Amino acid sequence: MTDASIIDGKAFAARLRERVGQEVARLKDDAGLTPGLAVVLVGEDPASQVYVRNKGKQTLEAGMQSFEHRLSESTTQEELLDLVETLNADPEVHGILVQLPLPEQIDSAAVLDTIDPTKDVDGFHVINAGRLATGQDALVPCTPLGCLMLLRHHLGDLSGQRAVVVGRSNIVGKPLAQLLLGESCTVTIAHSRTRDLPAECRNADILVAAVGRPKMVKGDWIKPGATVIDVGINRVEGEEGKTRLVGDVDFDEAVKVAGAITPVPGGIGPMTIACLLANTLTAACRARG
Ligand code: GUN
Repeated sequence: MTDASIIDGKAFAARLRERVGQEVARLKDDAGLTPGLAVVLVGEDPASQVYVRNKGKQTLEAGMQSFEHRLSESTTQEELLDLVETLNADPEVHGILVQLPLPEQIDSAAVLDTIDPTKDVDGFHVINAGRLATGQDALVPCTPLGCLMLLRHHLGDLSGQRAVVVGRSNIVGKPLAQLLLGESCTVTIAHSRTRDLPAECRNADILVAAVGRPKMVKGDWIKPGATVIDVGINRVEGEEGKTRLVGDVDFDEAVKVAGAITPVPGGIGPMTIACLLANTLTAACRARG
């Protein structure tokens, strides 16, 4: 059997960012409106700092305004809620993202639900989660949106496909399951308590791994010819003490069985920020009316 085709998320994300940039330029010319994205980082988490820096850079590259707010690890809930309220009221800010995880003194759900749902470009507000679950227009979480775009690009119509999503987080697993249901897939959400997880995965025409466990999904968990989406970004010890990134799927095994697979890095990762920019553009267009 030939190896799986590699789904190039990096190239797709670059094209998406370019399209967003073109739309931003048109919005400026036609309506004098520049979309703006505010990103809030609380504390010093190194991975979060890298993400926030990349978000700011790519926001500017797309021609949008970028507003960064860095707060100390000891920020109180009240201070953070005050900042969110200020951003809600700022007409230059069309999208608000509060980077997770937040320090333990802060109630994340309360913060996310204070963001104006029309500026909630992460799609984490209960209103947007509810709108997605009931099939209404919603701002959709960026990583699941990126997964869906790549699947549609690669497979076309998804209706009738058996999809197994491993992972039940509010950020990826649950919203992706809703999106796939919206595409008329037959959807199973599997998780750490699923009985005989490998057998469940072998049913999948579309297998999504979003659990945060390096190389958990083995080659013999995959139906021959299936499409495999690897959402995991795990930093592991590599050679000579260097760290390297691996996904939730054992790529070397999976590539021999799957029909198509996203690599790590260069698969879903780059799609997340590109979708964030797309969501910010959507929010700005809706604000314009
Ligand atoms: N931390 C890790 N992923 C994300 C994300 O998509 N959005 C936010 N706000 N924080 C994150």
